[in-house]
Amino acid sequence: MLEQLPEGLVTPALVVDADVLDRNIARMAEAARAGGFALRPHAKSHKCAEIAGRQLRAGARGLSVATLSEAEAFAATGVDDLFIAYPLWPDESRARRLRRLADVVALRVGVDSVEAARRLGDAVRGSDRAVEVLVEVDCGTARTGVPAADAGRVARAASDAGLSVLGAFTFPGHGYGHDPEARERAARDEERALFEAAEALRELGLEPRVLSGGSTPTTGRWRPGPVDELRPGVYVFNDAQQLAMGCCGVDDLALAAASTVISVPAPDRFVLDAGSKVLGADRSAWVTGHGYLPQYPEATITALWEHHAVVHLPEGVPAPRLGSVLAVVPNHVCQPVNLADELVIARQGVELDRWRVAARGANT
Ligand SMILES: Cc1ncc(COP(=O)(O)O)c(C=O)c1O
Repeated sequence: MLEQLPEGLVTPALVVDADVLDRNIARMAEAARAGGFALRPHAKSHKCAEIAGRQLRAGARGLSVATLSEAEAFAATGVDDLFIAYPLWPDESRARRLRRLADVVALRVGVDSVEAARRLGDAVRGSDRAVEVLVEVDCGTARTGVPAADAGRVARAASDAGLSVLGAFTFPGHGYGHDPEARERAARDEERALFEAAEALRELGLEPRVLSGGSTPTTGRWRPGPVDELRPGVYVFNDAQQLAMGCCGVDDLALAAASTVISVPAPDRFVLDAGSKVLGADRSAWVTGHGYLPQYPEATITALWEHHAVVHLPEGVPAPRLGSVLAVVPNHVCQPVNLADELVIARQGVELDRWRVAARGANT
């Protein structure tokens, strides 16, 4: 229960409910196992060695990360199988770092252009262990990734550059939003795109060994078929966005910012000391407010300043007392984690431990 915060915390502080965290990890591991999928959780959501360890012990094949420096940070904590699920553009310094990293971990990298494939081939030439690549295809998110039918062009360039082409990956990000139909469509789009990408690779004589997809909102909509690896990230903690989408329940929220009521300027308004520097500034158009307060579910965080969250209450709901400490579940958990030095791990209001956010700020 997130609202049971440890006594005496210096706020604002990110608190993680150890039981909910463990349950979320176990549930996802079981869902992947039951469907016959390999699980490679996206670690950008937690950036934390202790949580990576729990995911791996629960059966994850390895981790996905967004940046080379996240990969380096997790390699330094002993994770030995990493996928940079991002179309890297290797400059001189990244080339050196990639070679160093490839010598100590099994490394996979995303690629979505002929030019990047060539650069990557040059970058890692001569490293002791092969760097494997997955071609990124766009299944509808309209972010990175080539159309699935073009996967062969990029795969050929990668192969010609001396890289080992492992398969393809995609991110069904267009499943985010209020409409449950959109999540279903995104899951089907992802299947179609990876099927098509696999065919494009086979036409070149490259048998794909990994077809990687997945996100937190499309969880539970996976079917056996072209997709064989999943990379959900947010599910370890969940957040106000996932709650608003109906992708998790209140009892599945594992992380909140413990925050003190520092001002009650009006009967229907109070102010907390967790602002955008703690909660992050993410706010999708379809989410009401800047976070969710489990103790005041009817309240709305109407404004977020760097060090203030301004909360409005409906008529008749009494404001909390000055100095009380409340839990605030952020809209999108990845940003607050990246802003914190450590996570306070708690069970039923008792602090158990503090975990360092090891890959904090690892953006390069
Ligand atoms: C490439 C990629 N894979 C996986 C994920 C994880 O998805 P989610 O954040 O919905 O758990 C993300 C999230 O942004 C991503 O960008």
